Amino acid sequence: FKRIGVLTGGGDCPGLNAVIRAVVKTAAGNGIEVWGMRNGFGGLVENQLEALAVSSVSGILPRGGTILGTTNRDNPFNYRLHKEDEVVYADLSGQALANLAAKGIEALVVIGGDGTLRIGAEFGQLGLPVIGVPKTIDNDIPGTERTFGFDTAVSVATDALDRLHTTAESHHRVMVLEVMGRYAGWIALHSGLAGGADCILIPEIPYNLAAVNAKITERRANGKLFSIIVVAEGARPLQGKMVGVKAAEGSSESIRLGGIGEKLARDIERLTGVESRCTVLGHLQRGGSPTPFDRVLATRYGVAAVECLLTGQTGCMVALQANRIVTLALADIAGKPGNVPVEGDLVADARAINICFGD
Ligand code: F6P
Repeated sequence: FKRIGVLTGGGDCPGLNAVIRAVVKTAAGNGIEVWGMRNGFGGLVENQLEALAVSSVSGILPRGGTILGTTNRDNPFNYRLHKEDEVVYADLSGQALANLAAKGIEALVVIGGDGTLRIGAEFGQLGLPVIGVPKTIDNDIPGTERTFGFDTAVSVATDALDRLHTTAESHHRVMVLEVMGRYAGWIALHSGLAGGADCILIPEIPYNLAAVNAKITERRANGKLFSIIVVAEGARPLQGKMVGVKAAEGSSESIRLGGIGEKLARDIERLTGVESRCTVLGHLQRGGSPTPFDRVLATRYGVAAVECLLTGQTGCMVALQANRIVTLALADIAGKPGNVPVEGDLVADARAINICFGD
């Protein structure tokens, strides 16, 4: 390869710039030029491509967000177009490929979550050499123990829990922290363990409100007048639905999650009489500088992505298994869930220290 492309798709995530930097530097070391697409697959369709010299990635390692811009809306295979006040969708994958060919770009590194990786896999089927890099604070990509960005999100949520303890203890309250994670409970589970939560409610284990209330009441009977609850935005009560609002047209999601924490705090207060408050951490979990772990992981992924291309491996995703970087077929990953194993060690350890999952 003489020239490769790189793009970031989906929500922003700490460590994106670290991957871009590693891709550009590793490529340069092997005489390969890197071009960046602006705003994910949208820039590829709209021909917004720019050469990325080593100098253009200088200083970006600790920076949050992505220097390339991103969006979770644009899918070249089903591209949103505005035609005379009307929104229509068209397959512009051919145009995207033509834009790459015109610049002599022979392969693409796509850095993104499941939606982005799925589109990458589709381009792979059209013959474009593609390497995927698993990005998301949610850690919900199968086949890899870690997506970069997750460690930073957990660190932010843990810090929030440490701070919430102060008010919980002083005011004898129930403090509920709603964290992100989409349909997976990884952020809730890890931050709940790290932040000493009493209850951790995750999408994988629908919760029974009576069990949560019993935990709070039991703690009070034992002289613990406060409780800390971490609830994943995708958690739902037994026989209940996920809480959220309809996602905007063109979004990759059908529902924009959020609101379960507020509902839970209200229900707990109503049924136990204990004053309860909810904090929604939201996009604070995605913003700012990546942790050292995420910087290192993102760098390893970026290096590995280029090394795959150098060794002729394509149509794969780089992944972390037992602290080694491995590659997996993109086709085997795309579109599959990467949830918390309910019977796994971490849930068992949490149960062993008496953390309540509401079941
Ligand atoms: O996938 C990352 C994530 O932050 C999820 O945890 C969350 O549900 C979603 O993105 C929020 O997306 P948006 O920024 O589009 O509201």
